[in-house]
Amino acid sequence: MEKSDTLRKTRCSQSFSEGEYAMQFGHFDDARREYVVTTPRTPLPWINYLGSESFFTLLSNTAGGYSFYRDARLRRLTRYRYNNAPLDSEGFHIYVKDGESVWNPGWQPVQAELDEYVCRHGLGYTVIEGKKGGVRAQQELFVPFGDNCLLMRVRVRNDSKEEKRISIFPYVEFCLWDAMDDASNFQRNYSTGEVEIDGAAIYHKTEYRERRDHYAVFWANRAPDGFDTAREAFLGVYGSPARPEAVFGQGCTGSIAHGWQPVAAQQFDLTLAPGASETILFGLGYIENPREEKWEAPNVINKARARAMMARYAADAQFDDALAALSAHWDELLGHYQASTGDEKLDRMVNIWNQYQCMVTFNMSRSASYFESGMGRGMGFRDSCQDLLGFVHIIPERARERILDIAATQFPDGSAYHQYQPLTKKGNLDVGSGFNDDPLWLIAGVDAYLRETGDFAILDERVPFDNDETLSQTLLEHLRRSFRFTSKHLGPHGLPLIGRADWNDCLNLNCFSEQSGESFQTTGPSEGPVAESVFIAGMFVKYGRAWTDILRHVGLVDEARMAERAIASVERATLTAGWDGAWFRRAYDASGNVVGGCECEEGQIFIEPQGMCVMAGIGKDTGEAEKALASVKERLDTKYGIVLLQPAYTRYRLELGEITSYPPGYKENAGIFCHNNPWIVCAEASLGHGARAFEVYCRTAPAYIEDISEIHRTEPYVYSQMIAGCDAPTFGEGKNSWLTGTAAWTFVSVSQAILGVTPTLDGLKLDPCVPASAKGFTVTRLYRGATYHITVDNSAGVEHGVKSVTADGKTLSGNVLPPAAPGAAVDVRVVMG
Ligand code: BGC
Ligand code: NOJ
Repeated sequence: MEKSDTLRKTRCSQSFSEGEYAMQFGHFDDARREYVVTTPRTPLPWINYLGSESFFTLLSNTAGGYSFYRDARLRRLTRYRYNNAPLDSEGFHIYVKDGESVWNPGWQPVQAELDEYVCRHGLGYTVIEGKKGGVRAQQELFVPFGDNCLLMRVRVRNDSKEEKRISIFPYVEFCLWDAMDDASNFQRNYSTGEVEIDGAAIYHKTEYRERRDHYAVFWANRAPDGFDTAREAFLGVYGSPARPEAVFGQGCTGSIAHGWQPVAAQQFDLTLAPGASETILFGLGYIENPREEKWEAPNVINKARARAMMARYAADAQFDDALAALSAHWDELLGHYQASTGDEKLDRMVNIWNQYQCMVTFNMSRSASYFESGMGRGMGFRDSCQDLLGFVHIIPERARERILDIAATQFPDGSAYHQYQPLTKKGNLDVGSGFNDDPLWLIAGVDAYLRETGDFAILDERVPFDNDETLSQTLLEHLRRSFRFTSKHLGPHGLPLIGRADWNDCLNLNCFSEQSGESFQTTGPSEGPVAESVFIAGMFVKYGRAWTDILRHVGLVDEARMAERAIASVERATLTAGWDGAWFRRAYDASGNVVGGCECEEGQIFIEPQGMCVMAGIGKDTGEAEKALASVKERLDTKYGIVLLQPAYTRYRLELGEITSYPPGYKENAGIFCHNNPWIVCAEASLGHGARAFEVYCRTAPAYIEDISEIHRTEPYVYSQMIAGCDAPTFGEGKNSWLTGTAAWTFVSVSQAILGVTPTLDGLKLDPCVPASAKGFTVTRLYRGATYHITVDNSAGVEHGVKSVTADGKTLSGNVLPPAAPGAAVDVRVVMG
């Protein structure tokens, strides 16, 4: 396939004129699946996530960040000061002292100018390397698969012609476990800190004497020449990570922390001949002991498990093996969907970064990023259900587990806690419940799981309501209650009631908050008999149909018919009360006034209902769908993506709530909310508009906007939740990178809607929708245990339509491939036309 014939030849890849911005701070290395950052002065810290099971570390390109076990709020191992100045100065830094010169390989926090710098963010690992004055220092960090620790290998090499006597100091600051309490309850915390030293290991055991049965350990694989465990001894009372007194002065002091701020700092004095190098292995581990095994002597913690952990990573070969296992793990995960399109940007998004981000959102939901403090939100009900859409093909077994966890936080009437804590898996009422889109997202998640796996047995699993075992019912019953909740909560126009809010948390039509500091979502009556959501109507039609498909599959035909009647009536309401003439309205407020209609002074058109209603197929045969998408293009399109609404709200409106609290162009008030751009991609593809679908896809896809990194500012390898819209003074600037439903939805949009490989209840459906200039591509897809090698031939140069599908040479009657036997390899050829 010729490059010029590929998907890259569309308008959007030319939408920034060549060289207009071209400001990059690194580049992709696709062969190694890395983003290579070539300057530490990135517009914002560019981070990576290490860990994919229980132990996690956020790590920036200058070695800032923090670690936690399972729950970023309740089990924080190291401290991080959000919104600090200087930015990002707590983390996993090492200091190199070479005579009078003190520097860090990652530049921060000393910020001494480096002769060379590079940071490679890879899949689950990061390597940072700096060189100064003839010394090269590298730190390699990752969380090994199957263990609760962060490993760090530090290598230093003398590249100069003279012998060097240098010292290396690693430094981490412990958090006293509960991050919220740690950042606020100083009158207690300054007296509770405790550590123990044992050879090359520093144990952090605050609160272990009482109710905790876990501690942290920082270790090196060889004896240090000094250590400190009291922050004020290492940094100085008025010192800072940028100028630790111990490093700039006489070295570590051997301090033992009693209260205040326990830290782990060590000193290694090295003499390096020209060309010689040294390697030291470090680790930061989390250990839990059974209560009866907490102590090895009075007040001496039982270190057996920690010693065993240290022994697992005491030698380079062990470190290398664990790293190789991690890499094999990622090979396997990403191997479930691999495309070759001839467009390297598209391939790197689909094959590497988009799927990687989906795995991160699976692990983190919206809890811990450089924008989410880990203290606020746990796992969102709606968020986690949507995240499923992006990772279900990668780790179906864990998707199953996740579904059962989420469903257990549903209330018996079908509504749900909006959030739950990952550690306890219990719902929390921080923002209450009554977000009336939540129940339907459960159907979306389960539907995606069933289409992927065909595992209908999950529907028979008994799952509690409200985490109460005595209220257990089958998962099928949970879905039934989801559907019923919406069908029983309709408003005056026959559209679903919005409740506290729907997908757009900031459209608060039943909460009337006039006092600053009040929650926009939980102040006021919250529920209301009048305010209705056209967006939920679209969801009800889309996921209601998914529900009826499931019902028919399990033989509940009468129930399916009944449900179809309820869906048809909401669909009618959407096309009447929900239709504005050229687009779908957004809602009716608590007084029955239209939101998102041409009579509105501001906020006349919103993106969400256009995406959702068209994806649901509403108005497809009668023309409304085409009109709605044309309106999106005409009114909401910008060169950096589609904004959420227009015109932006310019003043606070009590009847609409938080959405109008944002200055124009930011967040839900007319920002480019990346999450719903892929809805438009899917919607366009459902109407067969391949060129437009791909154009919308490219506008926000990180690899396509790498050249505008200076404007975009957030990481060029992952999606951000929001890009400032055209009404904002900082148009094009991204915020809230990493933890966003955008990851899952863009993967759905590109892998299913554009490349057209869509799991259904009956098998894999093949229905690509591409620019006519894309003459073909291939996809390898692992599905229900079989591997499909799919070749799409678009020499006809169409945007959609499938002329024939053959599987192992046999022509299919339609375009759905029935599942092959597990283990089989199937050659599939799709001819468009
Ligand atoms: C944000 C929303 C978010 C909500 C979560 C709001 O302030 O604008 O994007 O969903 O908080 O609680
Ligand atoms: C981010 C939240 O996590 C998500 O649940 C919500 O749908 C969007 N913001 C829009 O408000």
